[in-house]
Amino acid sequence: DIERDEQIYNSYEKLTSQLPIRRDWSPFDLQLFQSFWIPTKFVPPCMAIQAHFNPRPSDILLVTSPKSGTTWLSALSFATLHRHSFSLSLSDNPLLTRTPRQCVPLLENFFFHRTIPNLNVLPSPTIFATHLPFSLLPESALRCRIVYLCRDPKDTFVSLCHFLESWMISSTEHKSTTQGFDLSKAFQMFSQGTSTFGPFWDHVLGYWKESLRSPEMVLFFRYEEMMEDPVNHLRRLGQFMGCPFSMEEERDGVVEDIVKLCSFDNLRELEVNKDNKGSLEEKRPPASSFFRKGKVGDWVNYLSMEMAEKLDAITNEKLHGSGLSF
Ligand code: A3P
Repeated sequence: DIERDEQIYNSYEKLTSQLPIRRDWSPFDLQLFQSFWIPTKFVPPCMAIQAHFNPRPSDILLVTSPKSGTTWLSALSFATLHRHSFSLSLSDNPLLTRTPRQCVPLLENFFFHRTIPNLNVLPSPTIFATHLPFSLLPESALRCRIVYLCRDPKDTFVSLCHFLESWMISSTEHKSTTQGFDLSKAFQMFSQGTSTFGPFWDHVLGYWKESLRSPEMVLFFRYEEMMEDPVNHLRRLGQFMGCPFSMEEERDGVVEDIVKLCSFDNLRELEVNKDNKGSLEEKRPPASSFFRKGKVGDWVNYLSMEMAEKLDAITNEKLHGSGLSF
């Protein structure tokens, strides 16, 4: 019903226009919606998700703060869930010809085009990626299993800066905004909590606390630990998603094969993931911007000691007493 959807989105846009806005975090305006800073164009989709997202209990949500490893987790989950439909080594695997984001689309993007989609026509189960904070999820989403992946805020911040910069450079409509990225301003904003789907710490804490309350519904992963032992994490992921690896699969090395297929080095070399055309206007980052270095601790190359200490101090203060630390 196009007319009904139009009316719904018009009312969301009206509400959005009344929210506090920060214009100085380049290149997107952020708006404060229910205590989180959401890119303006994503606010109406978030409202629509809250009111109209009605997933099946079999569906799976992959949640991250942007740049915490969404792409990697998407590839691993997709390859694991569909390992009986596609071969892992032959060319029929969708991950060889489509980006991980195309295989596991962002939930927000389904609601981006001023329509209320019927997602229950998708195959069951469907995996959705999302950046929505826990407190913004509709109650219906709590029926689904949720995998949350977080990453050291220093690396997340550095990754975010590079991502936004390469997106700006790639975007044909915004050639005038490519004078370079203002790292110190971005740092100030990030530290204050004014970052995409931030405050970063509140985002992590929401899911951390829920994972302690309901470990059977929320699986909490960390990028650094996954890098250290991807095979064991993939085993836990398969188990959690309801498709554990059998003894036969273990013996045949299926877990290792999936880890290899989804590794940074493998995915980055694929033609589909090398595409460097993007658009800020259409909220379409270039595929290549999701594969930069894939390293733990790369922040040392970009942040001064003072900046690192400041972020660490904020992290310690915010996470104090939660049982979580970076
Ligand atoms: P860096 O910028 O530090 O390299 P997201 O997918 O949430 O947007 O996060 C992107 C970050 O994850 C980038 O970090 C990117 O390089 C890294 N990444 C992408 N694919 C990966 C993979 N298969 N394994 C490990 N890291 C990966």
